[in-house]
Amino acid sequence: MTTTAYQFRNDPQQLVPLQQVLDPITRYDLAKIPIRAGWRVLDVGAGAGSITRHLADTVGPTGVVLAVDLDTGLLDPTDVIAVHQHDLRNGLDLPIAPGSLDLIHSRCVLEHLANRADLLAPMTTLLRPGGWLLLGEIVYSRALIHHAPTGADHHLIYQVIHAILDTLATGGTDLDWGDHTHAALLDLGMTHVHSRTRADTWTGGGPGCQLLADNARQLQDRLLRSDLNDTDLRRFGELMADPTVALRGYQYTSTLARKPELGHPLHRVPTGTRRSG
Ligand SMILES: C[S@@+](CC[C@H](N)C(=O)[O-])C[C@H]1O[C@@H](n2cnc3c(N)ncnc32)[C@H](O)[C@@H]1O
Repeated sequence: MTTTAYQFRNDPQQLVPLQQVLDPITRYDLAKIPIRAGWRVLDVGAGAGSITRHLADTVGPTGVVLAVDLDTGLLDPTDVIAVHQHDLRNGLDLPIAPGSLDLIHSRCVLEHLANRADLLAPMTTLLRPGGWLLLGEIVYSRALIHHAPTGADHHLIYQVIHAILDTLATGGTDLDWGDHTHAALLDLGMTHVHSRTRADTWTGGGPGCQLLADNARQLQDRLLRSDLNDTDLRRFGELMADPTVALRGYQYTSTLARKPELGHPLHRVPTGTRRSG
């Protein structure tokens, strides 16, 4: 069943800075997994594919990385990368045998989906015993502006960042979901569950501020229905390119987990109890 629409367009102006900001974090997380040549991997909501390509390089020519997205326009298939267009709002019905995947990765995707919690059990079903799952989400946090040219600019940046977060939340993005994935994965009987939260300084002109500028551009029509006007949004765009601006960027939480090995006491797939949506 298809429900709420995804709130962004897959534009390189959004996805390239997003990748520049998050790829170092995701690569650090992936480095904790003993990925081997020949592994079969699924990238759920692969976007512009930087992590798909990183995984393809890691599993090598004998491996497979299946990149799934609603919009596959920025994803290129290769001998290792298979690209599959699929709407996750309809579930995780993919051409993959249960128990056949070594690793599933999904970043900044589930928070946008109303059926986010219902997708976790099917993900674990696709993993082999001992297979790994890495999820990452932007999590709501109060904006913190370290420096802006004037007090009015400081206030404006704060106001626009919160308007972006509030607009996304009103449109169905769950910006608390990243705080709940750890418990949800424990409920599913996953082992080695570990979460990590980060928020880095973003400087005007850098990728984080480019991402914020693009988020404001993409949500512009809805932001203009709040207390903001055209002049405010134009000034916000200028400030996001101003190297004297410094702020705390979006908070990001990643959660790594492992499906129990065969014979492990937790080798089962219990139903979740702590959170349903
Ligand atoms: C914020 S982007 C993240 C892209 C990529 N995972 C990354 O972190 O670089 C969210 C991605 O989820 C995809 N997406 C959103 N709704 C979807 C749906 N219903 N089914 C499949 N993909 C969806 C979008 O097309 C987009 O590529």
